Amino acid sequence: MKKIMKPEFWKESVVYEIYPRSFQDSNNDGIGDLQGIISRLDYLQDLGVDVIWLSPIYTTMNVDYGYDVIDHCTINPEYGTMEDLEQLLEELHGRNMRLILDLVINHTSDQHEWFKQARSSRDNKYRDYYFWRDPAPDGGPPNNWTSFLGDSMWQYDRETEQYYLHSYSVHQADLNWDNPEVRREMHQMMRFWLDKGVDGYRIDAVNAISKDTSFPPATDTHKMQANSSEFYKNGPHIHEYLHEMYTEVFSHYKMFTTGEASDVSLEDVKEYTNPEREEMNMVLMIEASKICDDPDDMWKSKSWDLHELKEIVAKWQNDLYGEGWMGTYLSNHDHPRLVSYLGDEGEYRVESAKMLGIFQLTLRGTPYIYQGDEIGMTNSPHMHTIDDVTEQQARMYYELMVKEHGEDPEKIMKRIRTKARDNARTPMQWDDSTYAGFSEHEPWLPVNPNKAEIHVQDQTDDPHSIFTLYRTLIHLRRKSAALLYGKYECMLSEHDHIFAYTREWNDEHWLIMLNFSRSETELQLPQELASRLETAELILCTHEDHSREVARALISEQPATLKPYESLVFRGISILDS
Ligand code: NOJ
Ligand code: CA
Repeated sequence: MKKIMKPEFWKESVVYEIYPRSFQDSNNDGIGDLQGIISRLDYLQDLGVDVIWLSPIYTTMNVDYGYDVIDHCTINPEYGTMEDLEQLLEELHGRNMRLILDLVINHTSDQHEWFKQARSSRDNKYRDYYFWRDPAPDGGPPNNWTSFLGDSMWQYDRETEQYYLHSYSVHQADLNWDNPEVRREMHQMMRFWLDKGVDGYRIDAVNAISKDTSFPPATDTHKMQANSSEFYKNGPHIHEYLHEMYTEVFSHYKMFTTGEASDVSLEDVKEYTNPEREEMNMVLMIEASKICDDPDDMWKSKSWDLHELKEIVAKWQNDLYGEGWMGTYLSNHDHPRLVSYLGDEGEYRVESAKMLGIFQLTLRGTPYIYQGDEIGMTNSPHMHTIDDVTEQQARMYYELMVKEHGEDPEKIMKRIRTKARDNARTPMQWDDSTYAGFSEHEPWLPVNPNKAEIHVQDQTDDPHSIFTLYRTLIHLRRKSAALLYGKYECMLSEHDHIFAYTREWNDEHWLIMLNFSRSETELQLPQELASRLETAELILCTHEDHSREVARALISEQPATLKPYESLVFRGISILDS
C-alpha cells in the first residue's frame, strides 16, 4: 500500500481542543487550570475523544492568552506546575488518550529573554533572532504590511532606532527562522516536551515561518488585516524548515503534527502532508470557518450559501484523496461559536448543533471538536461596550475604526459582538450553578447566562441530547472504515438546502443527508438514489419518529418534508451499478 493510504492512529483519532483558561477552575481563582482539566478527564473519555489539544499553557503576558510566550519550557503559573502537566499526561495515557500541545514558533512575547536581549543593542547576539530594519526614508515603517490586528506590522524601537516585525500584536515579535540558531533552539524546545511524553503538536501559524525578507511592498492595501500575505505565507524556505524539523525532531518520536496554515492552496497542503516529503501529518481545513467573513475585513460579515460550502468541502475531500491528510475543523477559540455562525443559535439551536456534529464527524479528515460545541454552546451576550471585550484583535479593530477612522461605535460593536473571539472563550458550562460549575469564584470572562438551559449535566444522560449524538457519532466513526477513509461523493449537488453525500469504502456505504437550512425543505430523491436506499438502515437522525417517516417516504420514492436542520445518516446503501 502506498504510504499515503496507510491507516494511522492520528487519522482515526478525534481531537478535542481545550482552551485551558475556560475549561475548569480547580482552585477557585476564576481561571481554568491543569488540575481542573484532570478532574474532567472522565467526561472526555465518556465523550469518546482520543486526543486532547491544549491551547498554550506556557508562561505568558496574556496579551494573546498564551500565544505570546515568555518561556516555551515553563508552565503558566495561573495554570499550575510542571508536575500538574506530568500528572495530566500520565492520567491521559492511563486512559489510552493522548496529549498534543500548541507549538507557538512564529513569534515570542516581547518579554521573552531573547527579545529583551535583542532590543538591548544592535550587536547583541539575539538581535538576529528577530527581524530588525531601518526606517523608510521618511522615518516611517520599512514597508506597508499590516498585521493580523490591522495596524502596521512594524514597531519602532527608540533605543536602537530600528523597527521590528510583528505579524500579530506589537508584543509578539516574529522570529527569524532564517537564523540557524533560532531553528536549533526551537528544535531543542520541541524535544523537551516530547521527551516528557507529549504525543504531538498543533503548530501555530506554521506556514508563516519563512518570509520574503526583501519585504516587498504590499499591493493588496485594500485589505484591513494581514495584507501582503503572499510574501510571508508558504514562503521561500518553508518546506526546507519543515523537513528539517521532521528529520531533527518529529521522526524520532511516535507522534503527529497538525499545521495551522491559512492562505494555503490544495497544492500547498499536498506538499505539507504527503508522507513521502516528511514534513507534517496534516493541515487544518480553515476555509469553512471563514465562510461568513468578508475577505477584505474579517469583522464584516458576508453572506454565504450552501453551494459555496459544498465547493469548499468537495475540494478538501476529493482533491486531497490519496494525496495528503487534513484536520476537519469548523470552530475553535478564534471564532464565534459554531452553532451561532453556521447554525441557528435561537429556535433551532439543538437541531442545528446536531446537524453540525453529524456534518463534521462524517467527513474524511481528523475531526477537531472545540470545547462546548458538543453541548451546543452559543455566542456570549457580555460585550456591551469595548471595555467588556478581552481579546486584542477586537480591541485593536475598535481602536482603528472608531478612534482613527471615526466610525460609529455602535456599528463597530455590532460586528465585534458577532465575531469576537471572546464568544468562544466564556467558561465551559458544566451545570446551572452560579458559575456553571466552572468555578466558585467569578470567572475571568462572564459565564453565558444561558448556562441555565445549556450545560453538561443536563445532557450526559439524555439519549436525545447534542452530547449523546456526538458520543454516538464518535463511536460509530471509530469502527467505520468508510467514515474514516472512504471516498466522498456529493449527491443532489444542485440542491440549495440539502447537503447530501456518500462515504464509501469497499462494501461499506453510507449516505448522509443534512437539511442545512432553517426552513422546511421538501425533497424527493431521484429514483437512482432512492433505490440504493432500499437495503439501508437509518443509523442516526435528528428528529426521531419524524426522521423515520422521512426515511420511509424517501426510500419509496415519495416526497418528504425535512424539518429545519433535520438530518439523517444511512448505512448499508447499495453499491452503484457501474
Ligand atoms: C492562531 C491562534 O489560534 C490565535 O489564537 C493566535 O492569536 C494566533 N495564531 C497568533 O499566535
Ligand atoms: Ca484556577
